[in-house]
Amino acid sequence: MRVLIVGGGGREHALAWALSRSPLKPTLLAAPGNPGIARLCECRPTKADDVPALVALAQREKIDLVVVGPEAPLAAGLADALAERGIRVFGPRKSAAELEASKAFAKQLMARAGVPTARFDIATTMAEAERAIVRISGGSGGVVVKADGLAAGKGVVVAESPSEARSAARRMLEENAFGEAGRRVVIEERLVGREASLIAITDGERVLPLVGCEDHKAVLDGDRGPNTGGMGVVSPTPALPPALVARALDEVVTPTVRQMAAEGRPLQGVIYAGLMIDGGKLSTLEFNCRFGDPETEAQLPRLSSDLLAVLDGAARGRLPEGELEWDARTAVCVIGASRGYPTDPVLGDRIQGLEEAESQPDVLVFHAGTRLQGGELYTAGGRVLAVTALGADVAAARTRAYAAMGKIRCQGLHYRKDIGKRGQGETR
Ligand code: AMP
Ligand code: GLY
Repeated sequence: MRVLIVGGGGREHALAWALSRSPLKPTLLAAPGNPGIARLCECRPTKADDVPALVALAQREKIDLVVVGPEAPLAAGLADALAERGIRVFGPRKSAAELEASKAFAKQLMARAGVPTARFDIATTMAEAERAIVRISGGSGGVVVKADGLAAGKGVVVAESPSEARSAARRMLEENAFGEAGRRVVIEERLVGREASLIAITDGERVLPLVGCEDHKAVLDGDRGPNTGGMGVVSPTPALPPALVARALDEVVTPTVRQMAAEGRPLQGVIYAGLMIDGGKLSTLEFNCRFGDPETEAQLPRLSSDLLAVLDGAARGRLPEGELEWDARTAVCVIGASRGYPTDPVLGDRIQGLEEAESQPDVLVFHAGTRLQGGELYTAGGRVLAVTALGADVAAARTRAYAAMGKIRCQGLHYRKDIGKRGQGETR
C-alpha cells in the first residue's frame, strides 16, 4: 500500500514511525515532511496547505491512502478533493471539519446533541457581545471570549473581568485581530478544573479511543508563562483514568459523532475532545478533528495495534473489530523549543547530540521544526524536537526522557523540567 502523510511536524513524524512498523509494509511518502520523517518516508516539497498540489501529488504517486496531520487542509477541503478523485483519505470532509474550524458551529452542535459544555452566546456585533458578557458573567463570574474560526490556538481569551472580556471582543470584532476568524465570537462561561483530552478515531459511526494523556500548554514550569501548542505530554494521566474515558465517550464523543452523522456531516478521522474536569463534573471545551501535537508523540509509542489497519479501516468507513491495544508502560514526551518560543522564536541554531539521545534505551526523538543543511541539523520552527521515553512508571519515563534531552546540544533550546509532575495521584 502506498501511503502519503500530509504535514511536517512532530505529530507527522510519530505517525510515520507508527505506520512504518505496520506488518502491511507500506511505502510511505510525506509532504512536506522534515529531516526526521525523511528517514522513514520519501519526502516531497509540496506544502501541507496546498490542496490542488497535494491532490496532484497523490494522483501522480498512485497513493492508496492519504493520512492528513494538520487541520488547515481539512478545513480547506482536501478530503473532499481527494475523495472526488477516488483516493482514500483518513480525515474528515470540509463539512465535518467545521467541528474544529468553527467554534460557534461546535457549541451549537453540542447543544443539539446534549453534550455538556459551558453556557454560551454567539455575537457578531459589539452590542451583542456586551449583552452576552453581562448574561454569561452574571455581573461577576469570569467569561471566555473565542474567535469563531481557526486562529492557531491564539483566538481564546480567558478574561478575568467583564471589561477584559469586552476589550477582547472588540479586538476580534472591530479591530480585526484575527481577520475572518474573529468576525464572529463565542462568549462562554469560564470553567475551572483540570484539563484533559480524549482523542479517538472514528469511521463516522464507531469510535475507538486512544489512551488518555495530558498536555502541558504553558511555556514555563509550574504552568506559568504564555500558552503554546504544547510543551510536553504524559500518558496515561490520573486526570483521565479509564472510568473517565468511558464517561467522556458516552457523554461527549459518541453523541457528537452520532449527531454529526444525523446532520449529514459524518465525521471520519479523529475526534479530539478538550475536556475540563472538576471533581465529578465533565465539560467540553472544544473539538479538534486531527491528532494532537504533541499528544501523538506520547500516545503512538504506546500503541501495540497496527495503526495502518486502523487508519485505513476508518478511511474505508469500517474500523477493525475490537479495541486498540496499548503498552502498559508510561510515556513522557518533552518538547524542546527554540529560543524565544512562543512569542518570538529565533531559528537557525545548530542541533547536535541527537544520535546519542536516540540511543538511550526506550527513547524516541521526533523532529518537529528542524532543517538539514550541509549535513548539519538546524532549528527551523518554534517547537523543534519531541523526546519521548517509555518507563515502568512516570518517574522512570521522566528520568529517561530528561536524560535523553540532556544529550542534545543546541544553543537556546529550552524545555520544561516538570512534564508529568503535575498532581500525580489526584484527578483535580
Ligand atoms: P479552546 O481552543 O477552546 O480549547 O481553548 C483554549 C484554552 O483556553 C483551553 O485549553 C483552556 O485552557 C482555555 N479555555 C477554553 N474555554 C474555557 C472555559 N470555558 N473556561 C476556562 N478555560 C477555558
Ligand atoms: N497540543 C494541543 C493540540 O494538539 O491541540
